[in-house]
Amino acid sequence: MTVGPVRHFLQKTTTFEPIEVPSLSIIRQLKIESENDHKYKLNDNLVAKNKGIDTPDGNLTSMFGPHLITKMESVLIHEQGFIYGDIVYRALEYATEDVSFTTSHQTSAFTTTTEMGPTSMLTDTTEITTTPGTTVTQTTQFKKRRKKRSIKNILSETDRKQIDQFISNLPDASLLDLPCPFTSTVCNETAKYRTIDGSCNNLEHPYWGKSFTPFDRFLKAEYQDASQSPRILSKLTGNALEGPREISNFVHTTSTLADIDPAISSYMMTFGQFLDHDITKTALAKGAYPFNLDCCNTNRPNNSDCFPFTIPGDDPYHRDILQSNRRCMNFVRSVAACDLGCNLGYREQINELTHYIDGSSVYGSTVEELDALKDPTDNGMMLVSMDDKLPLDDSDTLSCTSDADKTCFRAGDVRANTQPALSSLHTIWVREHNRIAQHFKNSPECYNWTGQQIFEETRRYVAAEIQHVTYNEFLPKLLSVEIREQFGLVPLLDGHFTGYDSTVRPMIRNSFSSAAYRMGHSLIRDKFAFPSSAFDLHVHLNKPDLLYEPSGIERCTRGMYENPAQTIDEKMTREITWKLFETIAGNGGDLAAFNIQRGRDHGLPSYTTWLHWCTNKTVQNDNFNPGVEGGLFYHSAAAATKLGRAYSYTCDIELFPGGISEEPLPGSRLGPTFTCILALQFRALKYGDRFFYEGNTPLNPHPFTPQELEGFRPITMAKIICENTNIEQIPRDVFLEPSESNPLVNCSDLPDICFPKNGGWSDWKDSCCSNCCTRQQYRSCDNPPPNECGKPCEGYDFRYKSTCHYGGGCCHYGGDHHDGH
Ligand code: HEM
Repeated sequence: MTVGPVRHFLQKTTTFEPIEVPSLSIIRQLKIESENDHKYKLNDNLVAKNKGIDTPDGNLTSMFGPHLITKMESVLIHEQGFIYGDIVYRALEYATEDVSFTTSHQTSAFTTTTEMGPTSMLTDTTEITTTPGTTVTQTTQFKKRRKKRSIKNILSETDRKQIDQFISNLPDASLLDLPCPFTSTVCNETAKYRTIDGSCNNLEHPYWGKSFTPFDRFLKAEYQDASQSPRILSKLTGNALEGPREISNFVHTTSTLADIDPAISSYMMTFGQFLDHDITKTALAKGAYPFNLDCCNTNRPNNSDCFPFTIPGDDPYHRDILQSNRRCMNFVRSVAACDLGCNLGYREQINELTHYIDGSSVYGSTVEELDALKDPTDNGMMLVSMDDKLPLDDSDTLSCTSDADKTCFRAGDVRANTQPALSSLHTIWVREHNRIAQHFKNSPECYNWTGQQIFEETRRYVAAEIQHVTYNEFLPKLLSVEIREQFGLVPLLDGHFTGYDSTVRPMIRNSFSSAAYRMGHSLIRDKFAFPSSAFDLHVHLNKPDLLYEPSGIERCTRGMYENPAQTIDEKMTREITWKLFETIAGNGGDLAAFNIQRGRDHGLPSYTTWLHWCTNKTVQNDNFNPGVEGGLFYHSAAAATKLGRAYSYTCDIELFPGGISEEPLPGSRLGPTFTCILALQFRALKYGDRFFYEGNTPLNPHPFTPQELEGFRPITMAKIICENTNIEQIPRDVFLEPSESNPLVNCSDLPDICFPKNGGWSDWKDSCCSNCCTRQQYRSCDNPPPNECGKPCEGYDFRYKSTCHYGGGCCHYGGDHHDGH
């Protein structure tokens, strides 16, 4: 067995001895070394760009679609984030290996001479700040540039604990002058609305849930090398794991008509994807910005952001495409980041979106994005293009494959064009915004609202609708009522939710975005249903041309709710495992393989670790037996066999293949591991959101009133579709297939939001029975007439008013007297 330096040291450790942390000055040297390596990489990227190697999408190997659109903000985080994780690796290596340095410095503060690993000569001049305000020039001569490390470590549980302790003993990163991208923000506690970037939702932790912050983790990362390198070797033997394409071929084949789930509609797929694009978008690394990395290009210099994988020679699809002869699938690592506290530690990944369910797929996750989507006249409305479609976006030349006479669309999330039903749903939400905004504009109660107030109140309603549909209609199809009750996910029938807890971390967890919520990929059908035709799905990815057809939005929407989805299981359609984003035969990607490789890239612990965490069950390393204690308890025989072909040991099964292939729990569509991750995540998104729509916490200055909630609760996805399209009949629940219990109903029979119209009293009027002594007066509750969700006054109100005095021969009641209503 080959073992690397870390393991070598740890193997000798029988007891749990702390690994001694190198001194601060050594760690400073390691930082410089890391920065220099990073500079090499950036330089290589420039060279590659100038040679035309890292071409944008369109060649044979770099098909990633809009998922590769990474914002500059993420690129900047990557520049530093990489170094945070890399220092840990180097420090651990230093501490467990006999490394000597040869570095000379001009300043007396740094006079050591250090010698690094083998290879090239490097001289570098760096500006460093030693104490605040004093900058010195430091010339670092690395006699040798450290060789690209070959990673051969296998780390046991004890090793990992030991490394955790080592990391916690490392010095504060601020002592290394490492900039922290997540420094504090000043919050306005009385602000009535969510910020557009999600900051300040949690007043004590303004960065929780903000866009461009790291994903959180339920379980610590398990990288190959302890801090940053993707896992590629068996935990048990140190042998290479099967590649992701091979595992995809073994495990994720192939959903067919026989695997349809007759109860749920494909609207589950489209809404699920829309919801994903509200809460997660992992930033991917770039070459020389804005160029993508073409990691399969043989002329491309090695790059630590590249993690391509092999297409085997006997690949069932690619072997038959003679002209392609493709043996490599491009894969770019996610942007690296430090954790939210900017500690030296494991490599983390960045979410470019606000983590909350807050309509960011409609409005964007930054002020700049919103500015490009909102009507510039500040009338409270969102921009639309002709025929009330989304605004056009001709800037996305990288992934949009629309015909020359058509254009892709702009929305709050860059992936809005991924498939036409998703683009249609984005359109429906923008129309819904404008419908509600128009209501407020027409409403007498809102006569004095500014355009900004109309916009924010409307945004508040739209975010609430997305939350309501998620918890009320979407999640019940995935998780049983028992589970939802246990995790507090069932919406209330009346009253307020009072469970907001400012200590709950609302952030999206890495295991959720990189594995568990990707369960939606299994729902995808091979045909895109467009009444009255059906097309191969891959032809319509990143190409929203069907929306330009007559009634295009209606037909894309109907195609989804009129047709069932695939069952959630390990099987996926070849449209996404063979031909994802394919434009020329054989140049596509494999979504199942990407999911597996992304899990490795992010250092997700393996399936059995998650299973144990979620259920306390333990699986023996060589026990692939289905349905038995000590084996794959929650798997069918067929699924266990597939996993057994892909992995030699159960401890190596990865979270996506292992979790999605579990048998569902009773009343659910997911097995226990994905149920656990989803339930905890959706609980965090509810209990950790100060503005959750049902909530009433003293910390929210503007909760929905009981009347507003009462008027809001009957809204359904079906009604939202009805109100914003020409569809006139629709199944009551669009997430279920039409059936006797889910019949088609007239749109007009579905309840709309009832915006509370507070009844106001009219002026007092004399009634007919007034006499010289008493004036009977009445007023009525019709100014304006209230509606069923707004009832501050009711019926009539009477009063008797004395008009004369005894002295003058008349009665005196000593004041006003009110009588019944
Ligand atoms: C035609 C439909 C879809 C296509 C073409 C598609 C494609 C993709 C692609 C290419 C990625 C990036 C993979 C990577 O490099 O790691 C991705 C990520 C993801 N997908 Fe899908 N997907 C679809 C539908 C869905 C659905 C229905 C769901 C869930 C219900 C879903 C959930 C996710 C999640 C959670 C991620 C990770 C997002 C992130 O953090 O970046 N997708 N998808």
